[in-house]
Amino acid sequence: MYKFNQQEILKKLEVKVERMVDQMGNKSPHVAGSDGVYDDMPHAWWTSGFWPGLLWVLYDMTDNEKLKSAAMNWDEELQKCFSEHPNELYHDVGFQFLLTAVIKHEILESESSLGIGLEASNYLAGRYNPVGKFIRAWNGDKIGWAIIDCMMNLSLLFWASNVTGDPRYKHIAILHADTIMKHGIREDGSVCHILSFDPVTGDFIESIGGQGNAPDSAWSRGSAWAIYGFANTYRHTGDSRYLSAAKRVAHHFIAGLPEDFVPYWDFRLTSTENEPRDTSAAAIAASGLLEIAELVPSNESRLYADAATNILASLTENYGTWDQPDHQGILVEGTGHKPANDNINVSLIYGDYYYIEAIAKLNGWERRIF
Ligand code: GLY
Repeated sequence: MYKFNQQEILKKLEVKVERMVDQMGNKSPHVAGSDGVYDDMPHAWWTSGFWPGLLWVLYDMTDNEKLKSAAMNWDEELQKCFSEHPNELYHDVGFQFLLTAVIKHEILESESSLGIGLEASNYLAGRYNPVGKFIRAWNGDKIGWAIIDCMMNLSLLFWASNVTGDPRYKHIAILHADTIMKHGIREDGSVCHILSFDPVTGDFIESIGGQGNAPDSAWSRGSAWAIYGFANTYRHTGDSRYLSAAKRVAHHFIAGLPEDFVPYWDFRLTSTENEPRDTSAAAIAASGLLEIAELVPSNESRLYADAATNILASLTENYGTWDQPDHQGILVEGTGHKPANDNINVSLIYGDYYYIEAIAKLNGWERRIF
């Protein structure tokens, strides 16, 4: 086990993120390369919720008003995308609005944020294909695609059913989760990125490698999304099939970790020589493993909690930017899309978000947005 002082890290994160607020200005960050400067993406881009989200989580832990005021208007900013860029939004409105409108509503009881969150929920529910029983991924001509990542967006639908009392959102989330469980998780707990269906008949056609190495490989961030997404689906439904699925993927993930607990970008590479790690997969999985640790009986919990702590301790010790105050990222060595040679060995805002979220959980954060 690595040594790890979770209270100290939380304090260091508050200092780091306060500085990031000044560095970031109004940017909507996605990637910071070796210069340590985050880019500024259009608000419709899928990662636009993570920066405000990490501000909200840290505000919730610290009551630091500077963080709250930097997070405050992002839900209204992103809402404009529904009228100004409707064709650029897709299944990832979950990530975008859970971490802006929903978390703001939960923390501040803001009525306007409730409305924005529901607008996003209605949009996500509208992407459901009732014949194939899946939520459609992305836009363009791939009308029959569903992806493993979208398990995380289901929390928006569970939330919408909770706040409205209307079970239809939850029905859609459950039917989508069942489809992904049937076609997307293999016997050994590995997962693949993309599932292709005939959008007219709903028939399953094939698995596609996507951001993973191949159709039969095991993209590590895909596994992380599945661990966390199926654990959430169990928490929202009480159906133990989902917890079993989350555990199966978690066992495969933990078994595939190298010595320093941070995975390579895919678990199935013929050689790992010169292959990049993906710290974002590590951070997402750590936060998901902490969920499983809470959901299983106490005599099972340690396996998941220890794995999460080892991952977080290694990220802190080996992949942080603590001694680089000008670096706008928190973690380095994330991998965005290796097969497309895109965003390799970079800081990724979602890696930073899930790292903070997991550290907050270790420090007793009880609110659940996903
Ligand atoms: N949801 C896209 C990704 O994980 O890269």
